[in-house]
Amino acid sequence: MTPEPSSITIERASPRDAGEIAALYLASRAAALPYLHRCHSDAEVRDWIATVMLATGETWVAREAGRILGFVTLNGEELDQLYLLPGHSRRGIGSLLLAKAKERSPERLSLFAFQRNTDARAFYERHGFRLVDVNDGARNEEGEPDALYEWGASFPTEGL
Ligand SMILES: CC(C)(COP(=O)(O)OP(=O)(O)OC[C@H]1O[C@@H](n2cnc3c(N)ncnc32)[C@H](O)[C@@H]1OP(=O)(O)O)[C@@H](O)C(=O)NCCC(=O)NCCS
Repeated sequence: MTPEPSSITIERASPRDAGEIAALYLASRAAALPYLHRCHSDAEVRDWIATVMLATGETWVAREAGRILGFVTLNGEELDQLYLLPGHSRRGIGSLLLAKAKERSPERLSLFAFQRNTDARAFYERHGFRLVDVNDGARNEEGEPDALYEWGASFPTEGL
């Protein structure tokens, strides 16, 4: 298992983080999901993060030396967003953010991943998520085939 990076703190996001989170989200999606159909302009994404995502969801950031390196957003038992700044993967930061999500929703979590996002799918499966179903893309605005995953506190944790 990846060792916990001790220099990284997990903190609740504040409205003043909106710009940095939006820049991270745009950079992470461009790097990890370059094939994705863009439905919204950068300006629309920035506005949505400030006025909807941070206002209605529960967002936590991973911070190192004052800089946000990743974030996770929950809506109840749904994990809506989990993104890292490009260049900071495989340091255990995603695991720290996911541990916070499980702490906040200790019984159950569900999430959608794009089917082509094999890196994220491997990460979630490593953390005990089970594939529930797959879809042809009709249920997301990008029209990209996706996969629904679920984690439950009662799921076996062997090897985690
Ligand atoms: C997916 C993501 C959140 C994972 O975060 P991370 O900090 O890189 O993951 P961790 O370092 O905590 O990895 C924990 C374990 O998950 C598994 N894992 C993580 N990334 C993996 C990959 N690319 N391939 C296979 N296994 C992977 C490994 O078992 C890893 O342990 P190891 O490094 O000791 O082998 C991150 O890579 C990311 O932000 N990707 C781009 C955005 C994205 O796709 N978000 C998800 C949208 S649904």
